[in-house]
Amino acid sequence: MVAFNEMVYLPEEQRYEESTRIPNNARIASISGTQVREDYLNQGRKLPDWFTRSEVADILAESYPPRHRQGVCIWFTGLSGAGKSTTADVLTVLLMEHGRQITVLDGDVVRTHLSKGLGFSKEDRDINIRRIGYVAAEIVRHGGVVICAAVSPYRATRNDIRNMVGKDNYIEVFVDTPIEVCEERDVKGMYAKARRGEITGFTGIDDPYEAPLHPEIALNTVENTPEGNARRIMEFLIQQGFVQSDAILNGQDEGK
Ligand code: ADX
Repeated sequence: MVAFNEMVYLPEEQRYEESTRIPNNARIASISGTQVREDYLNQGRKLPDWFTRSEVADILAESYPPRHRQGVCIWFTGLSGAGKSTTADVLTVLLMEHGRQITVLDGDVVRTHLSKGLGFSKEDRDINIRRIGYVAAEIVRHGGVVICAAVSPYRATRNDIRNMVGKDNYIEVFVDTPIEVCEERDVKGMYAKARRGEITGFTGIDDPYEAPLHPEIALNTVENTPEGNARRIMEFLIQQGFVQSDAILNGQDEGK
């Protein structure tokens, strides 16, 4: 076996040296594997010449585009009437203003076509969620933004979807509205029906809802408006690099 020590770059001498043999006080430069992705490729910054040949840097940049050109899935989960669709609608408008094309997969709508005929048993809900997840993963793979808004009550199924889409491009948004508030709003009159026993197996009443343990974002719809909540998601997307900030879009921040 040939021993191999980590090499670092000495910019002043324009040469590489083993990390164990660096001259005293010499300035060194190095980029770790994680930094290559997070600090350069994700942000659309070209890798420096001393790190790799320019041609290689170009190929890497093309096969791993910056985050604002990568796909992303924003997955809303929460009880019926929690405010998933309302928040998703506002977010859609904000994202479009930032120049991204959006697909919305809303549980209520998906159940009228892609999942038509499915009911609300655990099996049927899982089929519904996996169908939405499959389409979402395809959209993300092709660089699109997809917003999914279904109750998606089961933690294990949601985690499967996270893996299917890819962890780095999946944002779980827990619309954390208490059942009492959903029931009081009862926009569609479903909770009243469930309480009267006209619907059985209703999420939160006589069917489980497993709240996310580590959502990227949890929203409070009692204290905050849908606009405020959608803006919070936008800030997260900007901070993660999936969306460019107004300053960059308006050309005020040429450095990025
Ligand atoms: S999921 O469980 O499969 O993710 P989905 O989001 O597609 O559910 O559909 C939920 C919507 O269907 C609710 O907003 C509600 O209007 C309606 N619905 C009808 N029956 C039920 C039920 N038993 N549990 C939950 N929602 C139901």
